[in-house]
Amino acid sequence: MATTWRDGQRTCNWGISTAILLAVSLQLFLFSPSSPGVLEIPPPSSVLPAPANGRLQEVIKLGEGLLKQPEDVAVNKRGVVYTATRDGWIKRLLRNGTWESWRRIESESLLGLTTAATTAGDDRVIVCDAEQGLLEVGEEGVRVLVSHVDGAELRFADDVIGSSDGTLYFSVASTKHSFRNWELDMLEDKPHGQLLTYDPSSNVASVLLDNLGFANGVALSADEDYLVVCETWKYRCLKYWLKGEMKGQTEIFIDNLPGAPDNIKLAPNGSFWIALLETIPNRLRFVYRSRAFRYSIRAIPELAKWVVGSYKKAMVVNVGSDGKIIRGFDDPTGKVMAFVTSALEFDGHLYLGSLHTDFVGKLPL
Ligand SMILES: *[C@@H]1O[C@H](CO)[C@@H](O)[C@H](O)[C@H]1NC(C)=O
Ligand SMILES: *[C@@H]1O[C@H](CO)[C@@H](O)[C@H](O)[C@H]1NC(C)=O
Repeated sequence: MATTWRDGQRTCNWGISTAILLAVSLQLFLFSPSSPGVLEIPPPSSVLPAPANGRLQEVIKLGEGLLKQPEDVAVNKRGVVYTATRDGWIKRLLRNGTWESWRRIESESLLGLTTAATTAGDDRVIVCDAEQGLLEVGEEGVRVLVSHVDGAELRFADDVIGSSDGTLYFSVASTKHSFRNWELDMLEDKPHGQLLTYDPSSNVASVLLDNLGFANGVALSADEDYLVVCETWKYRCLKYWLKGEMKGQTEIFIDNLPGAPDNIKLAPNGSFWIALLETIPNRLRFVYRSRAFRYSIRAIPELAKWVVGSYKKAMVVNVGSDGKIIRGFDDPTGKVMAFVTSALEFDGHLYLGSLHTDFVGKLPL
């Protein structure tokens, strides 16, 4: 392992030198020094009321060792908590504290999931598969709900939420880059994300919003009169109106977040929990200030992974329906839990998913 690590370091150093050379050449020959399109990293103005409180170090680890990269968590009406794992399982935490490996899906790219509202009270989960599309998982097994949109294959579905009438709303993080190479979407400053809807009665999926900066978490408001969709590398979440005079219109729900938003979830009292990632460590911000540098790094996949995502921090914020941060929890070192991607409030606790753990975190509120 030590050799591999050292080789990795060498590749990295070599990669950086190559990237610098490439960047300098590109800067000289292709771009003027004032090229537009450099990714703006906004100063965090929506600051935490109490920064760096380390509260996420107090999480209890649920299902440790059983849950490979549980990116998202969902709970059904009976209090059963579900998560989708990297090895293709939908696993669930029963009320008696036992984890059950519930349904297996041939996939290494399961992401956001939601428990669907059904009148029959049967168990049903809708899960995003970044390769296959939108899947429905039930007692009978797994079926593909949406595999194509407007004739094109549905790729990189990221998060999904269902309204009480059965309509689904879901995000596509990028129509250009894949889950395996999601870093490339950040390094390229063009928005390729979408917000979509699926109507089960007509079996048709359609695009509601286009050109989103890595569309990630989606959540419905308590009255289902609007939904919120988060744009990861724009450090903001948008409000899309579903009802009333503003129907079909979009406005900013919250911007200048103190991290890059991943999943967002409605809390029982109508506020929202947003998981924030540190996608660009401070020491690497220089990379993003040069278009040529970003361009060069995109050509070297190992380096692209290295400059995006520090995996060393974790933060979640509670945001009121007015778009103001109420409170937040973090772990500036990621000692217990890093790269938290999801925060679900249920029964006086937060249930936390992550792309960097083998457990779900549970934090008393
Ligand atoms: C919890 O319930 C499940 C299903 O009914 C059962 O298989 C399991 O053994 C139970 N676990 C405990 C600790 O009672
Ligand atoms: C709603 O719940 C959140 C999370 O527990 C809490 O931070 C917030 O203060 C509550 N808001 C109100 C208005 O009670």
